Amino acid sequence: MQNTNINSSIIFGLSTSKKIAEEVAKKTKIKLGDSEIKHFKDGEIYFKIETSVRNKNTFIIQSTSNPVNENLMELLIFIDTLKRSSAKEINLIIPYYGYARQDRKNNGRQPITAALVARLLQEAGADRVISFDLHSSQIQGFFKIPVDDLRTHGLLAREIKKENIKNLIIVSPDHGGIGRARSLAKILNTEIAIIDKRRVKANEAIVTNLIGNVKNKNCVIIDDIIDTGGTIIEGIKILKKNGAKNIYIAATHSLFSTDKNEDRDFVWKKIREIGAKMIITTNSVMNYSKNDFVKIVDLAIPISEVILKHINDQSIIDHFIEKYNTNI
Ligand code: R5P
Repeated sequence: MQNTNINSSIIFGLSTSKKIAEEVAKKTKIKLGDSEIKHFKDGEIYFKIETSVRNKNTFIIQSTSNPVNENLMELLIFIDTLKRSSAKEINLIIPYYGYARQDRKNNGRQPITAALVARLLQEAGADRVISFDLHSSQIQGFFKIPVDDLRTHGLLAREIKKENIKNLIIVSPDHGGIGRARSLAKILNTEIAIIDKRRVKANEAIVTNLIGNVKNKNCVIIDDIIDTGGTIIEGIKILKKNGAKNIYIAATHSLFSTDKNEDRDFVWKKIREIGAKMIITTNSVMNYSKNDFVKIVDLAIPISEVILKHINDQSIIDHFIEKYNTNI
């Protein structure tokens, strides 16, 4: 890699992604920028960037996860700060894109907040977005700037392979996830089953049916997001009812959202209690304590590769090929 390109780039990690940013800086040998966040007494955010960004390729790493609005606002203000400091390029690495599930109107008088967020990020001054496993690929179309929606199936498949699971079947927890389940099944050379999930209201899922035969099979339920855990728990129940053997969970984003009075580890513990063997996930969001039940795939590796390729004008097409990620 050419040093000049590394020297003309800077990485910044905001509140949710400081650790990943440190790792990415180490792996890429790109400077980690110094910035200071301050809160005024009324809650307003203020940034001071200690490193010059004039004519630099900047990379901001920030998941817009819980507290979603605070983290989103932090990102917007940081983009504005870089823009006003004459950065050459402002690249956003948003491992988890909050509001992604509000990507369409299901009914009258509803917002499409995923599109609103896209407009806000662009208006603030973003030049490019890199994210992982966006809830729906159409979100890319909400932006007029380039968006790379990197896939995690290959990374998750690599971890599943390590478990050496025989008689495996991949399960989609709802209709929306069938494509995701198919991609994983293709890598692992297995069949898929589909759970018929309906959402009665926000954060409440009901499961009515199972399509496919899971009797005596080891199942991997694959989802993009584990939020309250409701979808996964209902999925485990119906798989057990239909004679499944062991049940593993694979998901890109583990939000593990709890009520204020609940333990922050409530969700994964509940999934363990109901009988899952393991959760395989990424560190796009880390709002829980480290433990043996949740196996974490480090996104710092693909982020570093993509940044290096970008600053050296190389294609990142390989990152969309499932097999490629399986092997890295
Ligand atoms: C829904 O379409 C998503 O893919 C996830 O299945 C859902 O957001 C998970 O939410 P929860 O864990 O609260 O059921």
